[in-house]
Amino acid sequence: MPTRRAFIGQTAAFLGFAASGRQVSAASDAPTTLTAREAMVQIAPDSYPATSVWGYDGRAPGPEIRVLQGARVQRRLVNDLPEPTSVHWHGIRIDNAMDGVSGLTQEAVAPGETFDYDFIAPDAGTYWYHAHNRSWVQVARGLHGPLIVEEAEPPEVDREETLVLDDWLLDPDTALIDESFDHPMRMSHGGRIGNLVTTNGRFDLSIPVARHSRMRLRLINASNARIFPLQLAGLRGWTVALDGMPLATPEPLEDVLVLAPAQRADLIVDVTTEAGETAHLVRIGNDDRPASQVAFPVSGSTAQTPRAAPAALPSNPGDGLGSLADARPLRLVMSGGAMGRMDSALLGGERLGFRELAAQGRFWAFNDMAEMTRAPLADLSLGEPVRLEIVNETAFPHAMHLHGIHFREIRDGRSVGPMRDTLMVAAQETREIGFVADNPGDWLFHCHMLSHAESGMMTWVRVT
Ligand code: C2O
Ligand code: CU
Ligand code: CU
Repeated sequence: MPTRRAFIGQTAAFLGFAASGRQVSAASDAPTTLTAREAMVQIAPDSYPATSVWGYDGRAPGPEIRVLQGARVQRRLVNDLPEPTSVHWHGIRIDNAMDGVSGLTQEAVAPGETFDYDFIAPDAGTYWYHAHNRSWVQVARGLHGPLIVEEAEPPEVDREETLVLDDWLLDPDTALIDESFDHPMRMSHGGRIGNLVTTNGRFDLSIPVARHSRMRLRLINASNARIFPLQLAGLRGWTVALDGMPLATPEPLEDVLVLAPAQRADLIVDVTTEAGETAHLVRIGNDDRPASQVAFPVSGSTAQTPRAAPAALPSNPGDGLGSLADARPLRLVMSGGAMGRMDSALLGGERLGFRELAAQGRFWAFNDMAEMTRAPLADLSLGEPVRLEIVNETAFPHAMHLHGIHFREIRDGRSVGPMRDTLMVAAQETREIGFVADNPGDWLFHCHMLSHAESGMMTWVRVT
């Protein structure tokens, strides 16, 4: 049986285009389920056995959930896993009760139990969902999937592809998932980096395209800790959205696009290379060597030759910041990790030295605290503007993610770029974000290198 995507790829080769994956959820009374369960999936090359993963509906990545902007998303999570779980809808501004953070917004759902998620998707864009109980383990095992919210009037393209970028840390002999999730060396360094990089679960994803065709690529970095530096080859492209939110002006992608864990980018690309050749989404490896992340073998040609730059995507509601003049100033200092200067931090109200912290699996601290504290980082009132300075005193980059509220980066006192939900702060760097606390509830703020979050880089804000 060919998979749906392969099938679409094959027809696309003939038709030159395909409205791939367009599947708007039908309204019905029976709740649509999303079952978290074990499954055998062929991730490694065919000469290896299949890998036992945890996937939504037995797939990794899970099924694409696709709705129109303003529509309701309803999913009954069924937990068929051997441990409790929950689902977080990353980047979606929703009711706090639906945010899926076990221990903060809901109890984790026990094996055999269910939980009904039900929310409106207010913003169009590329989002994703993932497990938010023991995330550093559960996301690594495969519990994540794309969540696409369509614009009422989407840009004109010949085809659209959702590309979930991921990496897997597999035993090179058995292709089983390496279960050393708590490996101190990885926790205290860059996090769990896989040894097999995939797109949509394939290490060799290939999508046939026609020359001069225009595609919308929805990129999602679903990996635990890998930073993807990406480039186009044989493609001419523009970034039109970051973290789902439209750029005011599409930006030509001539250089490298860096996608940190949990970040997304929407690209509009035109196939420029000749028929018979292969265009690529290129990943720059750690050794600086380029590798093909996705191959686009080119055949045939559409009638249209070089096209004009795409128009900006329609803006989302509340896509602004207003004045930050009276914004409340907040500061978050990140410390710890290997090669860091943290000698001690607070854990359970006690000051512990770096070695003692390490013995308890804590390697990092936010504002001197090596755990998520009972008190929030800030108690904000609804509608309050905030400026938050993020000071990275560590030797590693961190992908800082705020739940429930989008922010904008502030440079030289002015807000720049689109609204975002995840910002990468490089080693030794200080960045500032601004946001309006416009969504009531308890919202997590953490590093999306998931083993960092688990080992100290997690805090939250309360909006009332
Ligand atoms: Cu994408 Cu707290 O998560
Ligand atoms: Cu989130
Ligand atoms: Cu981090």
